[in-house]
Amino acid sequence: MSFSGFLNQVREHTEQLLADYLPADSTPAPKLREAMRYSLLGGGKRVRAALVYATGEMLNGEQNKLDPAAAAVEIIHAYSLVHDDLPAMDDDDLRRGKPSCHIAFGEAAAVLAGDALQSLAFEILAQSNNKLSPSQRSQMVLELAVAIGSSGMAAGQVIDLAASETGLDLNALEQMHRLKTGALIRSSCRLAAIASGHHAETPTFLALDQYSANLGLCFQICDDILDVTADTEQLGKPSGSDDARLMPTYVTLLGLDGAQQAADHCSERALDALADFGAEASKLRQLVQYQRQRTH
Ligand code: IPE
Ligand code: IPE
Ligand code: MG
Ligand code: MG
Ligand code: MG
Repeated sequence: MSFSGFLNQVREHTEQLLADYLPADSTPAPKLREAMRYSLLGGGKRVRAALVYATGEMLNGEQNKLDPAAAAVEIIHAYSLVHDDLPAMDDDDLRRGKPSCHIAFGEAAAVLAGDALQSLAFEILAQSNNKLSPSQRSQMVLELAVAIGSSGMAAGQVIDLAASETGLDLNALEQMHRLKTGALIRSSCRLAAIASGHHAETPTFLALDQYSANLGLCFQICDDILDVTADTEQLGKPSGSDDARLMPTYVTLLGLDGAQQAADHCSERALDALADFGAEASKLRQLVQYQRQRTH
């Protein structure tokens, strides 16, 4: 199958998976469910789900065992975007080509939809007892909790919010990107590895960590570049948002060419990390090229 065929299949499959995992119509708070559905379905490149399935392909994982991880990372990602767009954070009114959650449903509902999405991701991991062993489920819950918490994604967002006032040097900016975006991308691979029966600290696991840490950094550098080079219609979110907030980014620190070089460098390091693997890692390799060349 071609790589674009693989991505289309991931998108279709993930959309259905997420729709099935959303709370039932009988929820006591239909508006909350609607806000969750609005932010979760019908958009997004689904790169994190693709990473889960591509890692599973490399490790011979069964798709059905990878589904809870793919759903969980996309749900966490959706929650992070809902909160990221809030007036207290980036104050962006457009996401995935439609009004941001707080514009459509109000600020309080958006805070709560983000909260409920976060809970849902952990509920899915903990509850997948027909697919994953108790040990796998508890490892995956811990893995995801650490990745998005106070030493992972949330820490990155706090550093981001302070950055326009404090300024950042290149090391601090790299650290922020590794946390706010890289941590969940790295976790997508780690969750897939656990669901495929692999154990932490094996050479394979460490190679995947190297791969995904570099891919994650590259992903956010490309996001910084696109904020400057792409327009709002193309992005489906406001172009120039970083500039409006006086955010230090790879582009403000290194210039556009310097940022492109930094992204290329991370792509190379991500590919180098897979040097010991053969055709089984080809989807992971293609994901590096795809994300480096993406236009939104
Ligand atoms: C946007 O992520 C936010 C970042 C972490 C850079 P994506 O570019 O993956 O957003 P979607 O899911 O495709 O909308
Ligand atoms: C978002 O980074 C990171 C998280 C949501 C954790 P950005 O603020 O750069 O993402 P966009 O550009 O709004 O998608
Ligand atoms: Mg942000
Ligand atoms: Mg933002
Ligand atoms: Mg951005």
